[in-house]
Formats: sequence, C-alpha cells, structure tokens
Amino acid sequence: MKSRPDGIVIAIDGPSGAGKSTIAGQLAERLGYIQIDTGAMYRAAAFLLSRADVDLTDLAAVEQFCQNIDIRLEVVSGRQAVLANGMDVTDQLRTPEMSLLTSRTSMLKPVREALMKSQQKMGSRGGVVLEGRDIGTVVFPDAEIKFYLSASVEERARRRCEELICKGEPVTLAETIAAVVERDRQDSERDIAPLRQADDAILIDSSRLSVDEVLTIMVTRCHNKIDNIDSLL
Ligand code: DC
Repeated sequence: MKSRPDGIVIAIDGPSGAGKSTIAGQLAERLGYIQIDTGAMYRAAAFLLSRADVDLTDLAAVEQFCQNIDIRLEVVSGRQAVLANGMDVTDQLRTPEMSLLTSRTSMLKPVREALMKSQQKMGSRGGVVLEGRDIGTVVFPDAEIKFYLSASVEERARRRCEELICKGEPVTLAETIAAVVERDRQDSERDIAPLRQADDAILIDSSRLSVDEVLTIMVTRCHNKIDNIDSLL
C-alpha cells in the first residue's frame, strides 16, 4: 500500500446539486484536510475563457490560453476563495449562465488536461478531499477512498432553486429542474471524462439524508480506511 505524506486522497464525485461542496467542506474540516472544489476550478476557467473572448471552436487557441491560466483555491478573509489569474472571482462563478457555460467549456480536452494536471499536483501529497465528476475515475483513480454522492433530480433542483432564490436570482422550480436535467445530460454524455460512478466508489443517495447523516457515513468510512492503512504500514 502506497502512503502519502499528508494523509489519504478522498474523492467525492456526483451530479450537480447532490450536496458535494457542503459535504466535502465539512468532511475536510472534520479530518483536518484540504478541500479542493474542482467544479469551482472549471467555473473559473470558463470565466477566464469567456472574459478573453477565446473562440471555443478553435482548440489550438483554447489550449494555448489554458497553458497560461493560474487558478488557485485559497482562504481569503476566512472563506474559500477562487483566484483566477490573481483576481478573486468567487462571487461571479455561480450564476445559471456560468453553470451552462462551464458545462460547455468543461467538455474541451485542453481545458480538462490543464485542470487535471493542476488537481493532481494539488492532491498528490494526500490530506485532501477532492470533489468533482471524474476524480475517482480519471484524476485520482488510485484515491484511497471514493464516494459517489447522488440524489433525485427533483431534490437536487429543489436545493439549487432555494440557493439561487436566497441569492436573489429570480428562478422557478420548473426551470431549475430543466437546467439540472440538461447539465446532467451534458456532464454524463460528453466524450472525455464523463460523469460516472467509479467501480470501487461507495454510493450514497442523499435524497432523504441530512448533511449530518451523510457526513457520519463518510467520516466513519474514512476513519476505518485511515486506521486500516496505518495498521499495514
Ligand atoms: O460542481 P459544479 O456544479 O460547480 O461544476 C461546474 C461544472 O464543471 C459542471 O458542469 C461539471 C463540470 N465539472 C467537471 O466537468 N469535472 C469536474 N471534476 C468538476 C466539475
């Protein structure tokens, strides 16, 4: 068994709105690990591509642009911030328009390759909780523990709708359901790194579970895994 200097790699994959960010953040806190929200990194890349008006049909241009982008996840004034080429873009990444644009740009090979490399670098020492779509299948197929967190379309749309309304975005449940279905389709039907449960991932359906209930399952599994690895070393 390979050991990493700072702990294990925990992969949490699943569709949008399943509660990955909340759970990953709390799990990381409980274990004293670092949270890596790879969806935020894809959103930041989409933001930069759109701001620079890069032609998304010109893959050579996208590749060249992506070689020079710098996306960091840092704690700024006590909250998780996303820095894109030095700019704090945290508050601009979660609009419905950015979600749709990100779904499109995250299908592009040069975007995925650039971000995958930086995620592997960020997580290689272990002690990390990475959340995304392809962490357990592509980015860290050797992650020590993998979860696939899901929930019904209706429940995920209800949660997303509440979140957007709280932020003052005027959305209806019907349009949020349509957007969730469309994003699921784009995320799972794309050719490169589609959303898929890894064969060795632990499936958790959060439709009827509270955050605390999901967390208890994960923390127990992670502690068992960490104890198990320690006993083999
Ligand atoms: O998790 P999220 O909703 O913030 O993700 C935003 C988009 O990025 C979503 O359309 C899926 C994509 N994504 C991806 O393709 N691979 C990842 N590892 C994480 C997110």
